[in-house]
Amino acid sequence: MTPRPHQRDRRDVNPALGSRKLKLGTFQTNLDSGCVMSDLDGRLEITWPNTVTLAQLADEMEFEALVPVARWRGFGGATDPQGPGFETFTWAAGIAGATRHSGVISTSHVALNHPIVAAKQSTVIDHISNGRYTLNVVNGWNFPEMEMFGVSLLEHEDRYVCAEEWLTIVKRLWQEDEKFDFEGKFYRIKGGYLQPKPIQKPHPVIMNAGSSERGRRFACQHCDLVFTNIRSHDVATNTAHVAAYHKLARETYDREVRVWSNATIVQADTEKEARDFYHYYVHEKGDWVAARNVIDTMAAEINKRDYPQERRNAMAEMMIAGWGGFPLIGTGEQIVDGLAKLSKIGLDGVLLSWPRYIDGMREFRRVTYPLLQQSGLRDQAAG
Ligand SMILES: Cc1cc2nc3c(=O)[nH]c(=O)nc-3n(C[C@H](O)[C@H](O)[C@H](O)COP(=O)(O)O)c2cc1C
Repeated sequence: MTPRPHQRDRRDVNPALGSRKLKLGTFQTNLDSGCVMSDLDGRLEITWPNTVTLAQLADEMEFEALVPVARWRGFGGATDPQGPGFETFTWAAGIAGATRHSGVISTSHVALNHPIVAAKQSTVIDHISNGRYTLNVVNGWNFPEMEMFGVSLLEHEDRYVCAEEWLTIVKRLWQEDEKFDFEGKFYRIKGGYLQPKPIQKPHPVIMNAGSSERGRRFACQHCDLVFTNIRSHDVATNTAHVAAYHKLARETYDREVRVWSNATIVQADTEKEARDFYHYYVHEKGDWVAARNVIDTMAAEINKRDYPQERRNAMAEMMIAGWGGFPLIGTGEQIVDGLAKLSKIGLDGVLLSWPRYIDGMREFRRVTYPLLQQSGLRDQAAG
């Protein structure tokens, strides 16, 4: 490959690959309601000034990953959470221009974006952000939004075969100078060409958040940032859960991955106030109809998941509280303690969200972030 003067080693430019002990991000700031499903006053109203306000708050704290969600329609109920929202590539391009430090992510559904288009759009955002860009590859599970396009979700295994072809094409376009042909089960490329190349060398960072066993393998084999859910409060269980990703990547694919998760911050001056507030927005104001729509869709036969009926209420509650994020509830000190525990189990980074996104994040920057800095979690790790 011809060396190109504009290209930089991605470890030097993409903050998601930096060496801070605990990296931070935001989740779903491109969608109405943010991460909650609740008729809560002060939840995110999606306007461009509001989404930029959140990105700039994150930028001031040098968050490493601003992750939007690719969503094409909402989940009904009284509040239709995630209905109105900004498309992720155009969002990321605008956010890249409005920030200076933070990593900027776009999320792409394999089935909805041709790999050449996704590779080309990603390259533009990598240039705008000067190498701060990450591509989140998602296979989709939300079949009603696929039906809106007239696209059927593939069978689960085929979704991953298709994603492997898709990502192979994207990576080749980003790296190869010679035009290439590709003949797969799902794609046929003739004379594949992409110039200019992205800023990041060998190619932009890739993220995946598949949660099935097949999804874990895909992520560990092909991606750099892998996401997992933390569902237990037991340190040993969680440590083993995170370590299993590294083991799979190292022993089966001879690769290194970084493991991230997501958490919801419910903070107040006392723990009781924080718990009361949680009860208010989840149990008094929660949009349970919308949350059950999510669980029913996720649990559909085509998604090959096993969601026992008796667990579905608890899952709906987690969706209402923060789109499944690990709950961190309490005072600023307790929030920092909770983040320290997430770091201790081996997570490289955590995406955060707040029920009242803008007010919560402002309070976090003012009260909690200085405590987090004092704790050393935002220091560069040695070595
Ligand atoms: C951090 C994170 C971001 C995600 N972003 C999206 C998204 O933007 N759009 C989407 O349809 N699914 C998204 N997902 C869902 C997963 O990418 C994945 O599609 C889902 O877990 C199903 O994969 P599986 O069949 O392997 O379990 C996200 C999940 C997580 C944890």
